[in-house]
Amino acid sequence: MNLDTFRIWAHKTADWAAQFLATVRARPVRAPTKPGDIFRALPVSPPQAPETMDAIFADFEHLIVPGMTHWQHPRFFAYFPANASPPSVLAEYLTATLGAQCMLWQTSPAATELEQRVMDWLRQMIGLPEGFAGVIQDSASSATLAAILTAREKALGWQGNAKGLAAHPAVRIYCSEHCHSSIDKACWIAGIGQDNLVKLPVSGPLHGIDVGELEAAIVADKAGGLIPAGIVTCVGGTSIGACDDVAAVCAVAKRHGLYVHVDAAWAGSAMICPEFRHLIAGAENADSFVFNPHKWLLTNFDCSAHFVRDPESLVRALGIRPAYLQTLGRDGIVNFSEWSVPLGRRFRALKLWFVVRSYGVEALQQLIRNHVSWSQELAEKLRAEPDFEITSEPVLSLFSFRYAPKGHPTLDQLNARLLQAVNDDGRIYLTPTTYAGQSVIRLQVGQTYTTRDDVMMAYDVIREVAGRVRTEPA
Ligand SMILES: Cc1ncc(COP(=O)(O)O)c(C=O)c1O
Repeated sequence: MNLDTFRIWAHKTADWAAQFLATVRARPVRAPTKPGDIFRALPVSPPQAPETMDAIFADFEHLIVPGMTHWQHPRFFAYFPANASPPSVLAEYLTATLGAQCMLWQTSPAATELEQRVMDWLRQMIGLPEGFAGVIQDSASSATLAAILTAREKALGWQGNAKGLAAHPAVRIYCSEHCHSSIDKACWIAGIGQDNLVKLPVSGPLHGIDVGELEAAIVADKAGGLIPAGIVTCVGGTSIGACDDVAAVCAVAKRHGLYVHVDAAWAGSAMICPEFRHLIAGAENADSFVFNPHKWLLTNFDCSAHFVRDPESLVRALGIRPAYLQTLGRDGIVNFSEWSVPLGRRFRALKLWFVVRSYGVEALQQLIRNHVSWSQELAEKLRAEPDFEITSEPVLSLFSFRYAPKGHPTLDQLNARLLQAVNDDGRIYLTPTTYAGQSVIRLQVGQTYTTRDDVMMAYDVIREVAGRVRTEPA
């Protein structure tokens, strides 16, 4: 493609993007596609000769877009959000145009230095104290893996990378039963193993880790000759928003010399509002903290903000300097690839910078506050319905509920059918979880373009579809 054609298609793409975002509300949220439909519609072999952009773009519109689930739909209430926004999209376009691989300071000094600056803005925005240094990881899963590797190396006297784990008693990591599966996976990959991830019960209204049980488990493991290394503490768990008491967890960790990583992948964005920061009280004593601006802070996937109190430990665990990566005469400079598992890195700071500058902190705070208050309003409306139960109370903008008409014999199946029918309907999109051994439906509010009317439409859709499902044969 020559640059004149590129310019034409860049304009057409921009027009398409604006039109798409202006009309996405009219599309079904979840793709109505059946498995295999799209695969079968695509040619079996690649083209030998060039195809026109007209043909490629037409296929994009007619084959691909209808098979997309619309995460930018204002009535996306499933999972957690993966927000984009116009300034973030523009920055992504520029990032793609620059096409830089930003692994070392010298492979793009502006990328490294902007990342340092914008991550410090973000640190201030969520109220973490000075002294925490930030790096943008591709995902919370990667940040958690980096933290667990650091915890492991510290606990093994920095011998694990060199000698492997065979020479040592088992390394132990602790978390609550509400922690995300990325913690399990990080333990697999770090060679710690599922059996050495100790999952502790929760208690209290926020379903936080039982701190007494946590300490007892650490003491018992030490007495048994095992090596307690770290605790992953959960703020805003994926299922129902469980939150540990971070201060209490950090106090236990301090008594036993353990590394603490806070997983606030979703809830962390809400910490830009001071009134929600009680959920992370004590995080200033943690070693590592992750949250995803790519979830709830209008910044296109992928952008995971990882803060550490002691970057040297992270670099000691992950840094490696073969001859071909040396940057002679540039010692003491941050090379962010040494803070992460992958070597190569995209220029992610640009979109965060565009977003924070273009909205300003106050508008971002207002967006989060709206989501939280609309979600809580919806929960109250459902609670007032005789046939619905709020099964887990709202944590920020997430709650779970259940359709429970009195005397119905098979509520789990009824709720599964309700969920399926709601999502087939296409106006809203919800996902399931379990709570207290029951199948329930979770709902979060957090999409960039969501309005109060969108949230209230969820109430209408849920009630309307529930009435239909109840009378249909199972
Ligand atoms: C609490 C929590 N932690 C970690 C993750 C993993 O995030 P990522 O997809 O960025 O790896 C998620 C994803 O939803 C999450 O909800």
